Amino acid sequence: MVRRSVVAGCGAYLPDRVVTNEELVQRVDTTDEWIVQRTGIKTRHIAGDDQKTSDLAIAAARQALEHAGMNASELDLVVLATATPDHTFPSTATTVQAALGMTRGAAFDVQAVCSGFVYAMNVADNFVRLGQAKNVLVIGAETFSRILDWEDRTTCVLFGDGAGAVVLLGQDASGDSSDRGVLANCLHSDGRHHDLLYVDGGPSATQTVGHLRMEGPEVFKHAVKNLSSVVGEALEIAGLHTDDVDWLVPHQANKRIISSTARKLRVSEEKIVMTVERHANTSAASIPLALNDAVRDGRINTGDVLVLEAMGGGFTWGASVVRW
Ligand code: COA
Repeated sequence: MVRRSVVAGCGAYLPDRVVTNEELVQRVDTTDEWIVQRTGIKTRHIAGDDQKTSDLAIAAARQALEHAGMNASELDLVVLATATPDHTFPSTATTVQAALGMTRGAAFDVQAVCSGFVYAMNVADNFVRLGQAKNVLVIGAETFSRILDWEDRTTCVLFGDGAGAVVLLGQDASGDSSDRGVLANCLHSDGRHHDLLYVDGGPSATQTVGHLRMEGPEVFKHAVKNLSSVVGEALEIAGLHTDDVDWLVPHQANKRIISSTARKLRVSEEKIVMTVERHANTSAASIPLALNDAVRDGRINTGDVLVLEAMGGGFTWGASVVRW
């Protein structure tokens, strides 16, 4: 007998304001054609001036709790992945905890940039497996619009704001790959690649917030290699093969990275959940946003095998295998 983290519900939130590629053409030297061809992105949502990362997270969390038929008072833990917290401290997770009316248990942030949601799922799953928590809210929430250099065409066209959340419930299970819940996780990082994707500010280094800086083509090369290998590792831990995968729910950075990774894994296009066209890259929020889309429209059903995979600044990368 083992403990498994079963996904009991999911939710998402996107700010109302939709920014099209055409709107960006007014700001920087770019074209709709270039952005669509190189990235697959057509639109992104941008938070209002009065909206913080926690506001997005709270909306997504409320929807996930409702979907799970649960009350915040039943939660033992909130793990929130973000690289764009409201403040340097306290954590955005504690702000969400207070807003939900949860006064017991614990809440903290996880920082792994675009891999944040996979890292947070792994952390939450370990708490459940060890019996330290039973009901866990896992959130990915970002306002990347606040750290973009809106004059840098190589980065500002790629990102958007949003939040997604899942509720995990600890349940006893047999321990084989037919169980529902998180079956395997695999994480990696390699800090030598700091300069390929980073923010040039921060409380200790510069006392400023800073802007995102990226060597796009270099990141691209590492992404396909790292993502395909980590998915293979996670599937092996789960005792499953790529043929068993019903849905690939990747971090939504770029359509070409997603398709190349899937091709390398021999996962067919119809099994990919793709939202990058509408959401752009929402960093830690992109996987739960995509997940929520495919659950709400009926694509993902009980018993389906999902692979979540992501790579981000650090570099960090990872994958989770989940039976829905
Ligand atoms: N509009 C028009 N032209 C642009 C542009 C834009 N928004 N951004 C860059 N260009 C130009 C470049 O200046 C370059 O011009 P040059 O040939 O005259 O020097 C040309 O387009 C090609 O640039 P390059 O960076 O080589 O293009 P690319 O095919 O590698 O695509 C990315 C760029 C960023 C889309 C791509 O590298 C990528 O997606 N990388 C991964 C980024 C990512 O997902 N990061 C997040 C990971 S979590």
